[in-house]
Amino acid sequence: PRDIPEDLTEILISEEQIRTRLAELSRRIEADYAGKDLLLVGVLKGAVMVMADLARELHHPITMDWMAVSSYGSGTESSGVVRILKDLDTDLSGRNVLIVEDIIDSGLTLSWLLANLNTRGPASVEICALLRKPEAARVDIDVKYVGFEIPNKFVVGYGLDYAEKYRNLKSVGILAPHVYTPVAAQ
Ligand code: PRP
Ligand code: MN
Ligand code: MG
Repeated sequence: PRDIPEDLTEILISEEQIRTRLAELSRRIEADYAGKDLLLVGVLKGAVMVMADLARELHHPITMDWMAVSSYGSGTESSGVVRILKDLDTDLSGRNVLIVEDIIDSGLTLSWLLANLNTRGPASVEICALLRKPEAARVDIDVKYVGFEIPNKFVVGYGLDYAEKYRNLKSVGILAPHVYTPVAAQ
C-alpha cells in the first residue's frame, strides 16, 4: 500500500474504496428516499468526513444537522449512558432522519441516539455508518446502510481519532501498537 503514515501498520480501507462504497450507498439512499425529504444528522466529531463526502455524493435535496454526544464513564470503555453536548437545531416532527456515523463499535452510542431521536416524532429514523465492528457489538442495532464490516482492531483516519489525532487521514488504517503502548511496556 502507498503512503502509510509511520503511526499505522497498514491501510485497511483506501480513499478509493471509501469513495466507491459511498457512491454505492448513495444510489441506494437516493432510491429509498425518492420524492421524500431527507435530513442527515451527523454525530460529531467522527462523522465529519463521511458526512461531507456522502452529502456531496447524494443527488438528492438534503438538509444537514449535527449532534455532539459524550459517553459517561471513564477511559475507553463505553458505558451506554450518553450525554448531549450539542443538540440538533432542527425539529424532527414528520422528518425522515438518516443518522450518519463513522463507526459502530459497541453500538451503545447509536442505540441510545436512536431511542432519543425516535421520541421526537420523526417520520423515520435510519442509520448510515461507514464502518461496523461486528465482533465488538454489545447491542444489536438495525443499520440500513453499512460501508464496511471490519475486524476488531484499533482504526483511525477519515474522521476516526486516537486522542483527537489522525482524523484528517484520507484512508482508514490500523494504528501501530507503539503509538498507544507505554514505552516501558514495549
Ligand atoms: C466514536 C465513534 C462513534 C462511537 C462508536 O466516537 O465516532 O461515534 O465512538 O462507539 P460505540 O459504538 O461503542 O458507542 P467518540 O465517542 O470517540 O467521539 P468522536 O466522534 O468525537 O471521536
Ligand atoms: Mn463519534
Ligand atoms: Mg473518538
